[in-house]
Amino acid sequence: MNTTTTLIAPHGGKLIDCYLNERDRPQTLAHAQTLPRLLLSPRNLADLECLATGVYSPLNGFVDQTEYYSILNEMRLTNGLAWSIPITLQIPESAASQYQLDREIALVHPHGDILAVMTVTSKFKPDRDLEAQKVYLTTDEAHPGVKAMKAEGEVYLGGAIFLIQDVPYSDFASYRLTPMATRTEFTRRQWLNVVAFQTRNPIHRAHEYITKIAMEIVDGLFINPLVGQTKSDDIPANVRMQCYQTLIKNYYPQDRTVLGVFPAAMRYAGPREAILHAIARQNYGCTHFIVGRDHAGVGDYYGTYDAQHIFEQFTPNELTIQPIKFEHAFYCRRTAGMATAKTSPSTPEERIHLSGTKVRTMLRNGQTPPAEFTRPEIAEILVTAMSQNR
Ligand code: ADX
Repeated sequence: MNTTTTLIAPHGGKLIDCYLNERDRPQTLAHAQTLPRLLLSPRNLADLECLATGVYSPLNGFVDQTEYYSILNEMRLTNGLAWSIPITLQIPESAASQYQLDREIALVHPHGDILAVMTVTSKFKPDRDLEAQKVYLTTDEAHPGVKAMKAEGEVYLGGAIFLIQDVPYSDFASYRLTPMATRTEFTRRQWLNVVAFQTRNPIHRAHEYITKIAMEIVDGLFINPLVGQTKSDDIPANVRMQCYQTLIKNYYPQDRTVLGVFPAAMRYAGPREAILHAIARQNYGCTHFIVGRDHAGVGDYYGTYDAQHIFEQFTPNELTIQPIKFEHAFYCRRTAGMATAKTSPSTPEERIHLSGTKVRTMLRNGQTPPAEFTRPEIAEILVTAMSQNR
């Protein structure tokens, strides 16, 4: 437990803020109009937002070649701090000659607005199969993370970024809390020990169970659903947000729960992504991070608890936030409540657990998932949303 009287320090000690001074913005914007323009993809936009607001502290820009290989090979930055997935800016080889080393470029929103300026301090063409193998533990292009990485360009640009204006969003405005904002909110609530919960799904009973066990031993819960790009068969973020709001209103104590979105794209990198997820949550001010079964996994690429074991590879100097590890939770008919194999003597036949695929099939067929799996209010939101999508 955190026994000091201040919030946990950000990863690396200092919260990064890549925003230019208000005063310098007009001049920089005018200058940026003269620079080579690089159109950002949705993944780049998500990364830009995380970099600029300090979610990815201590990174202050897209990684250079040295950090890239240090992350792949050592799972650490060159300064020794834990870092598991390189945050990259990739461009097609055909466009590479437009962006010169040691020159500035303008990073542009697809709608045309210049968002940031970056000095290109690194330009390289890595072995992307090595990246796939190291980060995703597979080179299989059917893996959604490998596929998304390969869909971006072959040439990687690195450099510090300077943000001229916020990445514009039309959705979840009041839930887009920066690390600075969450830290202010946790301090206002006098929370020192805060547990973060990452999710890319509606919160089902198993999720609710593990978050509530964690809440028993800390001051508060930060529900931090990922709302960047996910694979097409995941439940859309706007539907999930309705679920989170309803669930928190009905089933969580308001004074011990904060909801804020995590702007990152999902990488489905299992163990390595669990480390990145934990680091980001430390930057938001959380001391603990929930890691359950197959965290950030997809298909059969990772072992059920690999994303828990990976934390054993780091010392507290390399990674401060503590994982809280949970076994597979299910509804247990014998004890008439949520449980895991650690707390219930039930046989497999007495356990109710539905896979994501099974639930999606039920929803597509207009069937309501059972109350042992999801709260009825959440089932109703999901059935309605899926029937409109059919
Ligand atoms: S994830 O990609 O964000 O990990 P999901 O939203 O399903 O997917 O999971 C959120 C968190 O809850 C992860 O830490 C995951 O390991 C955990 N989790 C999901 N389902 C269960 C379950 N039945 N039992 C225990 N932990 C679970």
